Amino acid sequence: MLKVTGLETGYGRVQILRGLDMEVPQGRIVALLGGNGTGKSTMLRAVSGLIRVWNGQIEFNGERIDNKAPDQIVRRGLIQVTQGKDSYPSMTVEENLKVGAFTRSDKPGVARDLERVYDYFPVLKERRRQLAGTLSGGEVQMLVIGRGLMAAPKMMLLDEPSAALAPKVVLDIFANINRIARSGVTILVVEQNVRMALILASYAYIIRDGRILIEGDADDLMHDENVKMSFLGGTVADSSREYMS
Ligand SMILES: Nc1ncnc2c1ncn2[C@@H]1O[C@H](COP(=O)(O)OP(=O)(O)O)[C@@H](O)[C@H]1O
Ligand SMILES: [Mg+2]
Repeated sequence: MLKVTGLETGYGRVQILRGLDMEVPQGRIVALLGGNGTGKSTMLRAVSGLIRVWNGQIEFNGERIDNKAPDQIVRRGLIQVTQGKDSYPSMTVEENLKVGAFTRSDKPGVARDLERVYDYFPVLKERRRQLAGTLSGGEVQMLVIGRGLMAAPKMMLLDEPSAALAPKVVLDIFANINRIARSGVTILVVEQNVRMALILASYAYIIRDGRILIEGDADDLMHDENVKMSFLGGTVADSSREYMS
């Protein structure tokens, strides 16, 4: 469904991605993993049209989308959900969700999807008239995923949905990402929490130095000695430090 070939991009003259190849088949959950600052968010920004692609191709549903305008990409059903803090704090939860449906004119469909989001995340329904600024970190993350769903996406790009959240909240959010995928939405999830991401995804890519270093079935990577040494140990230590602070 999404195919990235030889992607090169960066900021100003600084090149970040140096020929990145990856593919996300329809209906699957694929993870893009790697340490802080390795270019994961940069990759998502290039796919969403937020930064210019220098070289390479991005295909969505068989159509070239590299260097198309962000709203053109959104209209094709490819929706990026950025890291949690990206809500409108002075709007209510429900207003935030309705913003996600801005490209749509089918009112009954929008109303149905609002109920669907409330079914995934009942706490958002409880708080629907509350200002988004009063939500907890986990609730904000649910809100931005919900807002993405309100666009009726074919595919969602999720940028670190577990960042800075307690393990119990991460489990809840990941269970819902799984439900969303089973409802037919293709998912590319970027994560630093490698262990959790390998449980969620069926296939994963690990990025280093602007390219894909390792790729494979999530189950295989979970048991791969190199992956264990380089990524699983470190990640668990890092995240537990975060949880305890
Ligand atoms: N807007 C920007 N301008 C300049 N450099 C940036 C910008 N955003 C990110 N970078 C740099 O690009 C590199 C990759 O960043 P990013 O894609 O955010 O990494 P990740 O999401 O994997 O943590 C980092 O070195 C970062 O400092
Ligand atoms: Mg990032």
